[in-house]
Amino acid sequence: MTRNTDSSKDRVARAGAGLVRDGMIVGLGSGSTSVLMVRHLADRVASERLAIVGVATSSSTAALARELGIPLRELDEVDRLDISLDGADEIDERFRMIKGRGGALLREKIVAASSAHRVTLLTADKRVGRLGVGMPVPVEVSTFGLLHTERRIRAIGGETTIRRDDKGRVVLTDGGNAIIDCHFEALDDPDDLDERLQCQAGVLDTGLFIGLCDTLIVGDGEGIEVIESGVPRFPH
Ligand code: A5P
Repeated sequence: MTRNTDSSKDRVARAGAGLVRDGMIVGLGSGSTSVLMVRHLADRVASERLAIVGVATSSSTAALARELGIPLRELDEVDRLDISLDGADEIDERFRMIKGRGGALLREKIVAASSAHRVTLLTADKRVGRLGVGMPVPVEVSTFGLLHTERRIRAIGGETTIRRDDKGRVVLTDGGNAIIDCHFEALDDPDDLDERLQCQAGVLDTGLFIGLCDTLIVGDGEGIEVIESGVPRFPH
């Protein structure tokens, strides 16, 4: 990563943390941008004595938030999420995203879907004309019948790779599931692909996040831009 990307990432993370208000219940995303955001938020909690509650999308985010003094609850212990802040791997002009390179996609999607206001934090290099050219679509699947689920996904037309660690073991998500990274030659219609993947037995969720970005904060070498997507918000 260049120094430019590094400081842009920090700027969007700070701006995201700046949207949180006293008393809010906040969905905390996963990945390197979210780590920075959690750090900025923890600074605000300490210096402004903000009374907030965080709901983490991964065990690593939960550990960091706990260490930095952000009070946490499980998602089902709260009746609403006022805002959620998370990174993404790619976003197109219609605010459709690919997420899940870090493997937290299922919990990230549940938290985003449960939030009144979804904020995406990313650097300008992640804005793309067409999703899926630069990276595969991660799909979280049950480990039961993993190879059969993989075969069904292949039949849709993609090349698949089961995510493994350097010892060749299947990587498990926080929920104990596997991830299949799916490369599609022409990802022309993400909505349709999402539907076709979602209906396969064994698929728990996909890294295609559609209609789950209300506000995009994007950073480049110059500064940040805040863009409202116009996607209707979850009514709370
Ligand atoms: C985690 O599963 C992902 O969805 C991350 O939100 C995404 O990969 C962005 O990560 P970075 O902020 O590290 O680029």
